[in-house]
Amino acid sequence: MRITVFGTGYLGATHTACMAELGHEVLGVDVDPAKLAKLEAGEVPFWEPGLEEVLQRNIAAGRLRFTASYQAAADFAEVHFLGVGTPQKKGEFAADMKFVDSVIETLAPLLTKPAVIFGKSTVPVGTAERLGRMARELAPAGDGVEVAWNPEFLREGYAVKDTLHPDRLVLGVDRARPGRAEALAREVYAQLLDEKIPFLVTDLATAELVKASANAFLATKISFINAIAEVCEASGADVTVLADAIGHDERIGRKFLNAGIGFGGGCLPKDIRAFMARAGELGADQALTFLREVDNINMRRRTRMVELAREACGSLLGARVAVLGAAFKPDSDDVRDSPALNVAGQIQLQGAAVNVYDPKAMENSRALFPTLTYSNSALEACEGADVVLVLTEWKEFKALAPEDLEGAVRSKTLIDGRNCLDPEQWRAAGWNYRGLGRP
Ligand code: UDX
Repeated sequence: MRITVFGTGYLGATHTACMAELGHEVLGVDVDPAKLAKLEAGEVPFWEPGLEEVLQRNIAAGRLRFTASYQAAADFAEVHFLGVGTPQKKGEFAADMKFVDSVIETLAPLLTKPAVIFGKSTVPVGTAERLGRMARELAPAGDGVEVAWNPEFLREGYAVKDTLHPDRLVLGVDRARPGRAEALAREVYAQLLDEKIPFLVTDLATAELVKASANAFLATKISFINAIAEVCEASGADVTVLADAIGHDERIGRKFLNAGIGFGGGCLPKDIRAFMARAGELGADQALTFLREVDNINMRRRTRMVELAREACGSLLGARVAVLGAAFKPDSDDVRDSPALNVAGQIQLQGAAVNVYDPKAMENSRALFPTLTYSNSALEACEGADVVLVLTEWKEFKALAPEDLEGAVRSKTLIDGRNCLDPEQWRAAGWNYRGLGRP
């Protein structure tokens, strides 16, 4: 099939490459010439394990091209995927729809033949219906243009796997105007459907809400265990052992029960806020007030980490703090709303010299927090430090042994913000090890 994908960010670039991997002829569309130039050269503009190989393989096979031309995209295919960002609006909880709207405003007037636009971005419920109206009004093909919603559930770090082997596919279609969206989606994802991936067809609003509620549930699960971590800290219990024990109950499950400095990134924090804002607009704000608490608990973990660093140093003024990890999670170079960088920034504001090292996110961190000091290795960041903070659980940090940092860290004090190291091992080597929610 011929397919276009609008947007070449984390979601769009992955979808573009993976649709080509499924054997389709794909045209990736973006307004940013710098990103397009990189992608055309087979280079992914961000770090995502395995994506570059898929990109290069499909460019070489002639199935994958990129363009800035909406006209070329409109002429190329009748199936268009929309994967642009929906960031949080400045000073508000609501999501900013300007990128999504702009794709429809620019593309629709060029659609002279019937087409289906599949939205993938996380949007406030009601968006798909609104975009459908907009597209039908603007397109010369009129009612021949459909908007359907096919939310994306991929995780950064596992984007290729999650796209090619998803837990489920969800498609929201306009029930009031039965069209070709379901048939075309079945063709696009034929290979996945052959592999018996569950395929759920819903109305538009349900599909949009599936995504918002999945992210709200995941955020709630993390804040739940972090709230319990606070109680563990107050009572001397161990949240990691507790999480293992409750996680054995299949109704609860062990995944997403890792207590630490909480969730960040380009999705969970802004998506729960946008969800609350949209519920408010719909008059259902009471239903989601608990998400406000989920957000509060999450932000409190960052403050707690700063407090622990201060306790360890006596005062942060003039202290030297090593921060290992800047990305919002391992296997990603994404620093959007990263708890690690937020903690590093707060500590610096309180007068400490902060030295940061991250295996992949250095460039993005420098751009976002230019005033922090950056090192070329974990060891270099720890040189002369009063305390070491492990804030992203990269494999490289989990593999650190106490001897590796022995000479560098004056006080042999380490705070593990992700509970990813073995306390016994560090304590046995004479370190003052501190985890979050652990005695
Ligand atoms: C998330 C959703 O998982 C994904 O389905 C959706 O499509 C986009 O948002 P992502 O943002 O890539 O994906 O990261 P995820 O793996 O969900 O982690 C989010 C944050 O939660 C990270 O900061 C991570 O460190 C934190 N986290 C995760 C915890 O603090 N504890 C956990 O147990 C799990």
